This record gives sequence, C-alpha cells and structure tokens, in this order.
Amino acid sequence: MSGSKINVAKQAIDYIKDKLHPEMILGIGTGSTVNFFIEELKELRNNFAGAVSSSEASSRLLSENGIEVFNLNDISEIAFYIDGADEVAPNKELIKGGGGAHTREKIVASAAKEFICIVDDSKIVTKLGAFPLPVEVIPESRSLVARRIVSMGGVPEYRAGFTTDQGNQILDVKEIDISDPEELETLLNTIPGVVDNGIFAFNKPSVVLVSK
Ligand code: A5P
Repeated sequence: MSGSKINVAKQAIDYIKDKLHPEMILGIGTGSTVNFFIEELKELRNNFAGAVSSSEASSRLLSENGIEVFNLNDISEIAFYIDGADEVAPNKELIKGGGGAHTREKIVASAAKEFICIVDDSKIVTKLGAFPLPVEVIPESRSLVARRIVSMGGVPEYRAGFTTDQGNQILDVKEIDISDPEELETLLNTIPGVVDNGIFAFNKPSVVLVSK
C-alpha cells in the first residue's frame, strides 16, 4: 500500500515539476498519500515560494521539510492543489474527510487553479458511498444534525475522541444515498450546525492520478 502511495506521489511531482516557478504557491492536502508527496516535494523546495496547507498536520510536515507555510488570507493565487481522497467516482466527484480535514481541504481546493488528486486504485469506485461520509459539525449541534441525517436515510456515527483543527466534531454517515452528489452536498450543508461535508462535487479535481 505505501508503495502505491509513493508511486502516485512521484507521478504528481512529475506532473508539476516543470511548471514550478519561484513565486508559485502550492496548496497541500492532508493524509498519508500527501505525506509521501511532501517528502518528495522537499527536493524541489527552492523552485517555488511555499504552500498553503489544509491541516495542522500537513503544516507541521511542510515546515519540517523546509517548505514555507502561508496563510490563505495572505495569498491571492494557488497554482496547484494536491490532495488524496477516500473515494473517486467516474466523473471525478470525491468523498474526502477520512482524516477529518475536508472543510479546509475544500476551501484550499476551491482557491486553486488546478486540483490534482492522488490516489491508489483502491479508492476508485463506480458510485460514491461505501466509505462513510464525513460531516463536520459544531459540537453543540451534533445530536440535532444526527437526527436530521437519520430522517434523510443516513446512519450517522459520532467519531468519538476526534476534534477537527477548527475545534469541531465529525459524524461519519453510512447508508445515505449519494446518487446525486451535488444535491446531497448542498442539502447536507443547509442543516444548521453542519460546517461542511466530505462530498466534493462542486470542487472536483481536474486531474486524478492513480498509482500504477
Ligand atoms: C483527509 O481528511 C482526507 O480527505 C484525505 O485526503 C483522505 O482521507 C485520503 O487519505 P489517505 O491519503 O491517507 O488515504
């Protein structure tokens, strides 16, 4: 498994390396695949300015590898956003958030000119939904949101002992119908107390690289 992740991390390096320039800012996702990408990226750290990160964990690893981390508020353009996924559907819609970082991941992805998704082939599915859908919630609203999700046909499970970088909680939702990812992404985010859910239907990658 780690061999596949290293392989696809190297593919992403090959994809961007000739396009880097000294003022360029990259967007960096979260997860074990991205961790391998960061390790590879350190060799190129003098070829670009730095990165906007989607999590505290990735920020730490970037800094440890000598890559400067910028706050999104100070950046007007991100050239490439590189991130993994938990599921990738045929038309490139995703489920993300297995690591609980999908809210910031979606923000940084939306700010980038190009989103490059890096996965091993176990993540490729014909339809989204076998992976429980992460929904970030404000802690006080967790039970209310869970009941609303049950009324929509989902089975939410509280990710006990986990707090997001924003101080919120996660419900992992099984058995919810994701036949229309855009509709469900929108609908879940209209429930008061939901911060964001892990469907990426509006912020899809332009490129999906799959490990060989
Ligand atoms: C983090 O919250 C997720 O969105 C990750 O991108 C996703 O879980 C992929 O992680 P791995 O690369 O560890 O499989």
